[in-house]
Amino acid sequence: MTKICVALDIELKRALDLTGQLKGTDVILKVGPPLLMEGGRQLIETLKSEGFDVFLDLKLHDIPNTVARSVRQAQLIGADYLTVHAFGGREMLEAARESAETIKLIGVTVLTSHDEGFLHFLNSKYKTIGELAKALALRLKEAGIHGVVCSAHEAREIKESTGLMTVVPGIRFEQDKGDQRRTATPQYAVSQGADMLVVGREIINSENPKEKVHEILRIAGG
Ligand code: C5P
Repeated sequence: MTKICVALDIELKRALDLTGQLKGTDVILKVGPPLLMEGGRQLIETLKSEGFDVFLDLKLHDIPNTVARSVRQAQLIGADYLTVHAFGGREMLEAARESAETIKLIGVTVLTSHDEGFLHFLNSKYKTIGELAKALALRLKEAGIHGVVCSAHEAREIKESTGLMTVVPGIRFEQDKGDQRRTATPQYAVSQGADMLVVGREIINSENPKEKVHEILRIAGG
């Protein structure tokens, strides 16, 4: 079954209100740097004590020693998932993996904010962002990273070539015609075998976030 992760891209007060409404619901909660800076370790402990799995989306990219220590700290405060950047390189990824005992590491390949101009910036031999992302997904696999962030459109291929857990953001109920490469409906993402859907604005901007979460859970449950 596809897991659902709610991206808490909101301020602390709203985040606590939403998670209060979602208590008892089988969702993972994603906390990024702004909310972590506002709520600190106590927020993570609160979410854990309410029974949620916590996904820390810090997209770590630093020297191996710092990343390894960050992984251990994330684990100590109870996080269940943590993101690391594939661009950190093999030593960084392996150091992260060696420190990960209970936590699942999710690799980020190429941020969706980049376009083909990024390949030029890197002077990359890869002709498309997709090729670079696939090559980086293989590097994640080799380093023992557990999962990878990818679009619904790549999920099946990446899963088949790497076996990694596929974590899919860019979920939209109405497909944006201008952005078909990056976004997808929850139905489509589930049909592509996504292991986890990450949904932010479709939930937090909806009139009834709790009902929206349940609607997505029904889709994910098949
Ligand atoms: O677009 P939406 O608000 O649903 O985004 C949900 C989350 O997905 C955001 O927290 C964003 O940081 C994350 N995201 C990501 N990688 C992408 C696109 C979005 O981690 N390529």
